[in-house]
Amino acid sequence: MARSTSPRNTVCTIYMTMAKKLWEKNTTVNPEIERFTVGRDRELDLLLARYDVIGSIAHSTMLQSIGLLTQEETESLHCELRNIYSTIEDGAFVIEDGVEDVHSQVELMLTRCLGDTGKKIHSGRSRNDQVLVDLKLFTRNELQEVCAAVKGLFDALIEQSEKHKEILLPGYTHLQVAMPSSFGLWFGAYAESLADDMLFLQAAYRMCNRNPLGSAAGYGSSFPLNRTMTTELLGFDSMNYNVVYAQMGRGKCEKNVAFALASVAGTLSKMAFDACMFNSQNFGFVKLPAECTTGSSIMPHKKNPDVFEIMRAKCNRLQALPMDITMIMNNLPSGYFRDLQVIKELFLPAFADIKECLSMATYIIERIEVNKEILNDSRYDTMFSVEEVNRLATEGMPFRDAYKKVGLDIEAGTFTPHKEVHHTHEGSIGNLCNKEIREIMYRTYDEMDFQKARDAEQTLLGR
Ligand code: ARG
Repeated sequence: MARSTSPRNTVCTIYMTMAKKLWEKNTTVNPEIERFTVGRDRELDLLLARYDVIGSIAHSTMLQSIGLLTQEETESLHCELRNIYSTIEDGAFVIEDGVEDVHSQVELMLTRCLGDTGKKIHSGRSRNDQVLVDLKLFTRNELQEVCAAVKGLFDALIEQSEKHKEILLPGYTHLQVAMPSSFGLWFGAYAESLADDMLFLQAAYRMCNRNPLGSAAGYGSSFPLNRTMTTELLGFDSMNYNVVYAQMGRGKCEKNVAFALASVAGTLSKMAFDACMFNSQNFGFVKLPAECTTGSSIMPHKKNPDVFEIMRAKCNRLQALPMDITMIMNNLPSGYFRDLQVIKELFLPAFADIKECLSMATYIIERIEVNKEILNDSRYDTMFSVEEVNRLATEGMPFRDAYKKVGLDIEAGTFTPHKEVHHTHEGSIGNLCNKEIREIMYRTYDEMDFQKARDAEQTLLGR
């Protein structure tokens, strides 16, 4: 979108020298106190900047509808807000020294360019509901990407499961060779795990997709705000109705989303461990593509699975996120507290971590090679012991007698396995039920209406 040239340069200059704190009256804050209380907001709030602008466009539209802004004022605010949005997209938006956070920066920019009109936009709003709405919009967008990435990895896993469904590998209990498994089962197991994780993501998305705007400082406003209107403009499913509850959602929303991310992370870290182990020479079940391994500075033969190790560590750290957030917010009563700001330090970067891990995992799963000759190694012969017991039982020998006979044969070294398996029930080697698993995943994914949210944001941006 073309940036409009502002005809208000005189106003801009007049307001250039204004105070940078929204609340500054006639005392100046101690610089050390400011540094401590602002914390990492100037850096982290950049992630919220786009959403602060979108929220402000919706809020000002609503202010006009209740007579607190004229049409001309609203149009000039929208024009400047869209300019600011373009600046953010270009990577040129900064939160200046002396400005506390993104909310103050956007208001400062509006006031520099529009004078008194800029100063009107905060009517009926507090930074408390402003940051709430920013976080909801940010999280909603990030969750859409996480869900799509989870579905991408799911598709890759199902494809590998189908492709290698005939190839057996040993299953383990206690890390001891146990019973036949297959690559169909192994890949498919992680796919089904992601289908369950998607349920958490959906719940988190739905809880997040409710409008807190209009709760102001946490107790509403004496202006006749039209919250239904901002809910529709922002494409939320509904609002957080009770204004006290809307404010209580700060921290709660992040915690619940963190639980969903932790669920995905749990799937990834387990898969990463399996992959590292199966890739080791002692197992040799899978081979990572050479381009996905790293070397050693001293041992020339090494092709290390560092990518899965980093993924495991990051995903294990992500599983601590709900607990970290809980520890920050747990002992707070209702109402806003600055403690809540600290949650952003842990919560905002989590999305980049999980998305990166998902994209790495998908890339490698699509390219991983499986060993088709595993069973030629006699050390895995005993995994067919139960098959043999069941075969004898089917021929009429009581199960306990068959069990004993096979056990004694193994001890005597006379056990020779039949290496074919006959598993036919649902979810077993011969009947993976990938179709059913896919249905669960797609139903959950499709129940979320991402398009409505995206359309609403684009409309507010005039695109
Ligand atoms: N940076 C603040 C936060 O993240 C914005 C809200 C400030 N509100 C206040 N009452 N001091 O919580």
